[in-house]
Formats: sequence, C-alpha cells, structure tokens
Amino acid sequence: MASFTTIWVCFVFTTELALPHVEAFCRFKNNHDQINVTCRKETKFPSGIPQNAFLIDLSHCKISSLQRKDLQSFSQLRIFRIAGSQLRTIENTTFDHNQQLNVLDLSRNSNINSDTTKTFICHLARMNRNVRELYLSVMNITTSDFYDIIRCLEKTQLTVLDLSSTIKGSLKNYTFSKMKSLRVLKLGSIYPVNLRALVNLTLLNTLRLSDTKLEEIPSFYDRDTNATLLPSLTALYLDANYIARLPSKSVGLDNLEFMSMRSNRLMRFTASDISTLSTKLNTLFFNTNKGIHIEECSFSESVTRLELRDCRIAFSRNVRTIFRTATHMTGLSLTKNTFDQSDDALGTIFHPMPNLTHLSLEYCSIKHIPDTTFQGLHRLIMLTLRGNRISKLSSKHFRDLHSLESLNLAENKLTMVYEDVIKSFPPSLKAVDFAQNPFVCTCDLLWFMKLFRGGRIVFLETDTNDAYKCYNPAEMAGKKLTSFEITDADCVHMSLGVKLIIMISGIVCFVALITLVVYRFRWYIGYGYFLLRARRREAMEVSGQTQYAYDAFVAYNKNDLTWVKDELLPLLEDEAHLRLCVHDRDWLCGRDVIDNIVQSIESSRKTLLIVSNAFAASQWCQLEMTLAQHRLLAEDRNALVLVLMEPIERRNVTPRLILQMRQQTYLEWTDDPVGQKLFWKKLLRSLKKQSGSIVHSSSVDRPKPEFSEDGIEPGCVDVDVSDRTPLSQRAHV
Ligand SMILES: *[C@@H]1O[C@H](CO)[C@@H](O)[C@H](O)[C@H]1NC(C)=O
Ligand SMILES: *[C@@H]1O[C@H](CO)[C@@H](O)[C@H](O)[C@H]1NC(C)=O
Ligand SMILES: *[C@@H]1O[C@H](CO)[C@@H](O)[C@H](O)[C@H]1NC(C)=O
Ligand SMILES: *[C@@H]1O[C@H](CO)[C@@H](O)[C@H](O)[C@H]1NC(C)=O
Ligand SMILES: *[C@@H]1O[C@H](CO)[C@@H](O)[C@H](O)[C@H]1NC(C)=O
Ligand SMILES: *[C@@H]1O[C@H](CO)[C@@H](O)[C@H](O)[C@H]1NC(C)=O
Ligand SMILES: *[C@@H]1O[C@H](CO)[C@@H](O)[C@H](O)[C@H]1NC(C)=O
Repeated sequence: MASFTTIWVCFVFTTELALPHVEAFCRFKNNHDQINVTCRKETKFPSGIPQNAFLIDLSHCKISSLQRKDLQSFSQLRIFRIAGSQLRTIENTTFDHNQQLNVLDLSRNSNINSDTTKTFICHLARMNRNVRELYLSVMNITTSDFYDIIRCLEKTQLTVLDLSSTIKGSLKNYTFSKMKSLRVLKLGSIYPVNLRALVNLTLLNTLRLSDTKLEEIPSFYDRDTNATLLPSLTALYLDANYIARLPSKSVGLDNLEFMSMRSNRLMRFTASDISTLSTKLNTLFFNTNKGIHIEECSFSESVTRLELRDCRIAFSRNVRTIFRTATHMTGLSLTKNTFDQSDDALGTIFHPMPNLTHLSLEYCSIKHIPDTTFQGLHRLIMLTLRGNRISKLSSKHFRDLHSLESLNLAENKLTMVYEDVIKSFPPSLKAVDFAQNPFVCTCDLLWFMKLFRGGRIVFLETDTNDAYKCYNPAEMAGKKLTSFEITDADCVHMSLGVKLIIMISGIVCFVALITLVVYRFRWYIGYGYFLLRARRREAMEVSGQTQYAYDAFVAYNKNDLTWVKDELLPLLEDEAHLRLCVHDRDWLCGRDVIDNIVQSIESSRKTLLIVSNAFAASQWCQLEMTLAQHRLLAEDRNALVLVLMEPIERRNVTPRLILQMRQQTYLEWTDDPVGQKLFWKKLLRSLKKQSGSIVHSSSVDRPKPEFSEDGIEPGCVDVDVSDRTPLSQRAHV
C-alpha cells in the first residue's frame, strides 16, 4: 500500500538544517529530537553526523566498506539504508552498538561476497533483536547460503523481508514456514513459483511475486487442507509476469484489496472477473499492459483506485462505458494513453465518478478539453495534465472543482492564461505547475504574471532552470518569465474598459464632426440636393416620363376674360392644338378654390399668368401667382410664363411680382399688329419649350420690367377673400 502513496505527489514541509562541519552531500531533516540524515555521492562514511541520528540514508553513495567504528556512536539509530552503494565488505559486528536498529536496507550491493553476507546476517540476527525490516534485494547470495540465512532469520521477529532477485530458481516447500511474524514478503525471479514455500505465513498481508514468469494468477488454496495459504493477504504484486487474464474462479485471495499487475499481458477483463478474484479489491495497478482491449473491459463497483498508465489505450467514444459501474472511484491515472480528439472521448468519461479526488492525465495527446469534462467533480483535489498539447483553458473547466488543491499543466502549449480562467481557480488551490509552456509575454499575460509573482498559489518547478520562459513576442523570446517586468500601469491602455471608452469617444467625436460639417454647409448641401433633383426632373421630362393633363394653366383676372376667350384660346387651342386649363371652363364645381388652383398648376406643364393691373390688384390673382410660384419652386420647375397685358401701376406692383418678373422672361401684349404677331410666336415657343430648372434659369435673358408712372385705373373687381364661391362663378358676375 505504501507504494501507492508514492504515486501521488505529497508535500512534506520540514525544516532543513545545514550543519557546517558535515560533508557537502548530506541533508538533514530535523523534527524535535529526531534527526534524519540523507547523504548522496559520498565515497566514505560521512563524519559529523549527530550521534542521536534517527535515520541515516547512504543510498547511491560509493562506500566500499562498513565497519563497526563507523556506526558505533549512533546509539539511537533506528533506520539505516545503504542501498546501491557498491559495498564490497561489511564487518559482522558493524551494528553491534546500534541496538535500536529497526530497519536495515542493504539492497543492490551485489559486490558483497555471498559468504560475507551470510556471516553478517547471521551475526545481526543473533545480536540485533530489534531488527524488523530487512531489505536484501539484488544481492549476490548462493542458494545454500540463502537457506542458511533463512535459518538464522527464523530466530528474529522480522515483519518485512525483501528478497527480490536475490536468488534464482524455485523455492523449497516450507521455506518461510517458521517466520510466522512476516507481514511483508517480496520475492522476485524465483521460478517456477512454489507457493508451498509460504505455508504458515498466516499474518502475511503483502506479497510480491514480480518477474516470476507467471502466466496466470496461481491458486492460493492449500492442496492438503483446501484452506487458503495466506488468509491475511490484502496486497499482491504480480508485476512483470506474463499474465493475460484474470482467473475465472476463486484462487483463495478473498481478502485481497490491492493488486498490482504492471507490465503483464492483460487483454480483457470484466467487473465480475475482478469481483471473482476478491469482492474487496479496491486498488488496481494495471500499468503497462499494452494489449488491453479496453472496449471489452469494465470495473466493479468496489474499485476506488485505478492506474492504467502506458497501456496504449486509444480512448474514444466507444469506451465511455468502461467506468460506468466504477462509481466509487477516487483515484484514477490514465497517463500515457491517447484520447480521441472528439468531445465524446473526454467529455463525459469521468461523470460516473463523483468522488474522484486524484486524476492523472499526463502525456495523453490531449489538445482540447471539452467544457463538460470535469463537470461534477466537486471532490477532485489533484489534477495532472502534464505533457499534453493543451493550448487553451476555459473558466468552465474549473467551475465544479471546488476542492482542487494541485493543478499540473506543465509541458503543454499554453501561450496565455487569461483573467477569467485565473479568477475561476477555486480558493482551495494551493499549488500549480505551468512549467514548459510557450508563454506569449504581452499584456494579456498580466493576470498570470500577478499570480506567478507571488500570492496564495505556489508555482512548482520555479527552481528548475528555464522552466518558465517567454516564447513570444520575438524581443522576449527565450527570456525567463521572472525577468518579464510588467505592471498594471504598463497595460492600462490595453484593458477592455479603456478600449471601450476610446472606441465610444471616437464614435461621438466623429458624429459631432459630421453634424458640424452638415450644419456649416447646410445650404451648399441643400443646393447640391436641389441640383440633383432638378437634373433628374429634366431628364425625366426630356424622356417624356412626366405626363400632364394640360399644356398650360391660364390664370387671369375676369377683366381680361374677353381677351382670353377671343384672342388667346382660339389661337392656342384651335390653331396650335395646345390643351389649356381655363378656370371658367375646366374647374370642378364644389371643389375648394385653392385645391382647384393647386390641381390645375400640378396637372399643367406650364402656368400662364395674364398680368394686368386688375390681376395685380386682385387678391385672388395674387394668390394664384403665389401658389404657382410655391408649387413650381417645390417641384423645381421653371414653368411660369408671364404675359404683361399693360404697364402695371406702381401701387399694384407687389414685391412678389417684381421678383417674378426679374426671374422670368415675360411677354408684353401690344396693340401693334406686327408686335402681336411676334407676341404669339414667342408665346407659343415659350409654352412648347421644356420647362427647365429654376436654378438653371439664370441663362434666360431678362428685360428690365417697366412700369408706367400713371397707368389706367384698375378695372379689376376685387374679390372678397372671405367669399367662398368658386372663382369661375364670380368671374361671370
Ligand atoms: C525520519 O524518517 C522517518 C522514516 O522515514 C520518518 O517517519 C520521519 O518522519 C523522518 N523525520 C524527519 C524529521 O524527517
Ligand atoms: C565474523 O566474520 C568472520 C569472517 O569474515 C568470521 O571469521 C568470524 O568468526 C565472525 N565473527 C562473528 C562474531 O561471527
Ligand atoms: C556473485 O558472486 C560470485 C562468487 O561469489 C561471483 O562469481 C559473481 O560474479 C557475483 N555476481 C555478481 C553479479 O556480482
Ligand atoms: C512440495 O510438497 C508437495 C506435496 O505437498 C510435493 O508434491 C512436492 O514435490 C514438494 N516439492 C518440493 C520441492 O519439495
Ligand atoms: C506451521 O505451524 C504449526 C503451528 O502453528 C506447526 O505445527 C507446523 O509444524 C508448521 N508447519 C511447518 C511446515 O513448519
Ligand atoms: C478438498 O476439496 C476437494 C474437492 O474440491 C476434495 O476432493 C478434497 O477431499 C478436499 N480435501 C480436504 C482435506 O478437505
Ligand atoms: C462518495 O463519498 C461519500 C462520502 O465519502 C459517500 O457518502 C458517497 O456514497 C460516495 N458516493 C459514491 C457514488 O461513491
């Protein structure tokens, strides 16, 4: 079980003390009276270790011999490790003065002569009654010396014995039968496996049978008694064997809780296979079983911890169901497998496991994490996503991770960790690892930099050289993140709020400017628009698109009726075939006078004003002229033709008439027959001419109007404006 805990990173906070007079490669851990000393790379036994040392670890050093004088001062010593230290000789009396010695690890010192080892162990077994754990893996011991050593150890109260890869070949029946206190026994490279060597180990809870060429899990039932050989066994290591399947019937491991089958040939299994082995089985290490057909696998409800590292599994939508019944899962490692990039593979796979606390997905080629992946994982404490190709994090990923304490995203493709993501980190988060990501060191990284520079969250691997570096932009490439100095002030112009303000004020300025320009040049703009309309109307008239009911509307005072009837109408209508609108004849009865005037002007191409003193004096005639001017101005038609019947007296001259006469060519009636001939010619021409635009009429030559000083008295009967009878009726009064 101990090895399981080493799988998950654990944080041990202890004070580290450097004692100056001790060799350079030793580290001291001091807790109350307990001093643990760990040395690496020493070539001889280090001096200066405190005499009250609790633990001395000289593993991986190059110390060739151990003598009594080396260790005699450490009367408190409980644990001594010197694994893999290239030991050649060891004095039998080395530990005679360390009567507290509890744990001795001599593993991987295969240079010690087998006989030396035997005499040393036998001496130790006799002298050190408190030794409980003895590690002798990968030692060079002959078979006969091995059984002698076991005879010596039978006298001790050993609980842990590691003999992995120490002797080759099958063990004899009853080898360990007299070591009844054994709880942990580690064996390796002993094949064929003879389980009868384990008879009588009723207290044994952990057995290691690694690298023993097992092709199936052997039966632990005693052939003689039909009872299980190891009734207390809870943990079984069967690593590096050739096991392809789980047994189909019970093998006498009813109390098994932990099973490690790393580096086997496991292919497929079902939840019931696991239950058959043991209904208490809760921890399975199936790492490096590269032939697993995961589609055909499933896990029983009892399984709470599972490792499937490096199994070459391609998780796709097809395997969503493998965890369907593993509802009690708390620790899961799927490291070094691959995930189909579709959302189906990763999106819901963890949803059946609401109690998951540790999840490891390292080196799984994950590019994209669907938002739903960690949904409902309220208890997740540790999430490891190292070595994937994740380039984007979403705040939705952390929405449900209320218990997350450790997050590892090292060696991914993150260029940026945005504000919303950092804000979505749960308050429980204590440590993160973002090493080896290709950060883009711009203002977008400001929030991440704030987090990085210090705060409640610890960044791991910051000591490692170049673990946190900028990759972009070019001028920052290769620089350490710690040298990326950036503050709020540097980035204030980049913040979203400021961007918005700049954008809005820009728009306001632009609108104000346009308004100002339009107001300042409103007349020019109006004129331009007028010109445009005039051109269009001209074009329409030229192409004959505008249809008029009449060629001309004749406005006159009733005093001039005779002239209109006798002279104008016969000539224009009968001879020139123009259609004229004359109010006496063409106005509709019962209609409003003003409506009639407007209607007549609009439905006539030209408006002919017969101006006499009576006309000028008459309010109705003035109204007609005014309306004609307004209408034609509104329509931009230069369609007024003025006929001056007589010189107009000054008192009848209104400003409007002057204006009209200034703007317009007008024709003067004369009594001279030759002049009359010319008059009719001109009149006809001006009535037939296209009506141009008012704004273009400047080209028309304009005789200066003349007014007689003392004209005839007006013959025009003034019409009472309040009189609502139609003009046509009044005209005949
Ligand atoms: C010393 O080592 C022992 C055994 O590994 C451990 O239980 C203990 O906590 C350690 N003490 C210190 C101070 O590190
Ligand atoms: C110690 O080992 C030597 C051989 O290396 C042996 O001659 C001697 O008798 C041993 N001493 C004890 C006390 O076992
Ligand atoms: C083991 O010891 C024997 C003799 O005692 C020696 O011949 C052999 O080379 C040693 N093996 C190793 C791996 O040291
Ligand atoms: C171990 O005991 C069994 C009977 O229980 C016997 O068949 C077998 O030959 C024995 N093996 C050895 C190596 O003595
Ligand atoms: C197993 O233990 C029992 C007593 O607990 C003892 O009688 C028996 O001889 C032991 N078997 C062996 C093979 O040592
Ligand atoms: C053990 O079980 C087998 C059948 O399962 C039976 O034949 C045998 O007699 C049993 N032995 C003992 C000692 O109970
Ligand atoms: C999760 O754990 C809680 C308490 O540890 C337990 O009550 C609950 O049944 C568990 N749920 C599942 C689905 O295992």
